[in-house]
Amino acid sequence: MIGKDLERAARLLREGALVAIPTETVYGLAGNAFSETAVAEIFAVKQRPAFDPLIVHAGSLDRLQALAADFPPEARRLAEAFMPGPLTLLLPKADVISDLVTAGSPLVALRIPKHPMALDLLSLLEFPLAAPSANPFGYISPTTAQHVDQQLGSKIPYILDGGPCQVGLESTIVGFDRAQAVIYRKGGIPVEAIEEVAGPALALAHSSSDPLAPGMLKSHYAPKAPLRLGNLDELIREYRHLRLGILSFRRVFPELPSDNQVTLSENGDFTEAARKLFAAMRYLDALPIDVILAELLPEEHLGRAINDRLRRAAAGS
Ligand code: TXA
Ligand code: MG
Repeated sequence: MIGKDLERAARLLREGALVAIPTETVYGLAGNAFSETAVAEIFAVKQRPAFDPLIVHAGSLDRLQALAADFPPEARRLAEAFMPGPLTLLLPKADVISDLVTAGSPLVALRIPKHPMALDLLSLLEFPLAAPSANPFGYISPTTAQHVDQQLGSKIPYILDGGPCQVGLESTIVGFDRAQAVIYRKGGIPVEAIEEVAGPALALAHSSSDPLAPGMLKSHYAPKAPLRLGNLDELIREYRHLRLGILSFRRVFPELPSDNQVTLSENGDFTEAARKLFAAMRYLDALPIDVILAELLPEEHLGRAINDRLRRAAAGS
């Protein structure tokens, strides 16, 4: 069931049930982070492998700090600059965080979502919320309550509807190697902005097996239809005998049916493109087409995180 009843959501979460919640990045599948049964239920509903740890969401910096055993100055600077917001920090976990949440890692992923409904809900609760993106494992993250309903609606009692997500990409995950920032996942805060605060950051290369970086699985975010990346004019020529879906950054292709194409931002605006990306992939994936043809954005700012998702979607097909 979809609704806007915060009290109801809070009651369900206190009872140990799961509730899908809006955040500024994507919708999350939330449960009491202090309840091992709720956390186990998250893995089960998502069909997520137990080696892939969860992000824990708190409503304030005070509450967040209580979940980390150590909050070094380099983390504090990033927290002050970007929280609440699409930043997740990897920090040594406090004892209150169970190994189930972190998949056995001594680090916990922590974030404060910047969505009024999520913050109101967290302020009603006595505990933080563990929440992965509210999609079946390996599929595209949901950016509306309806997206969640389509795939998980029958498995969870309530979906809190906070409207379409304003950022549209998952949070940027930052850890530390001594004091240097390490980007574990590109996301809603551009690497350039992280580096302005933290200095030069290391990027973690993706890996299909490293259990410390499972969000980096190469074939994440995959639509069901194969997705091909490249120069759109060439791809359209190459695949002209098939039924095509087109995902372009700025261009429109008047010779092709308009229903089968999505332009992420005709003005070339990265923020708009990020907001529309996952809904566009879902829209195209629901059409009777054989292949999705897509192009990369310029490799800067949010274009980097968008390209990361496009490459993973292409790797999955
Ligand atoms: O924007 C977001 O981050 C959304 C919203 C709902 O907050 N959440 C999200 O969660 O994207 P999820 O579970 O789909 O991706 C979280 C990723 C995991 O795949 C994992 O790679 C990484 O975060 N992660 C979580 N805890 C970690 C840990 N202790 N060490 C390394 N990576 C961790
Ligand atoms: Mg996810």
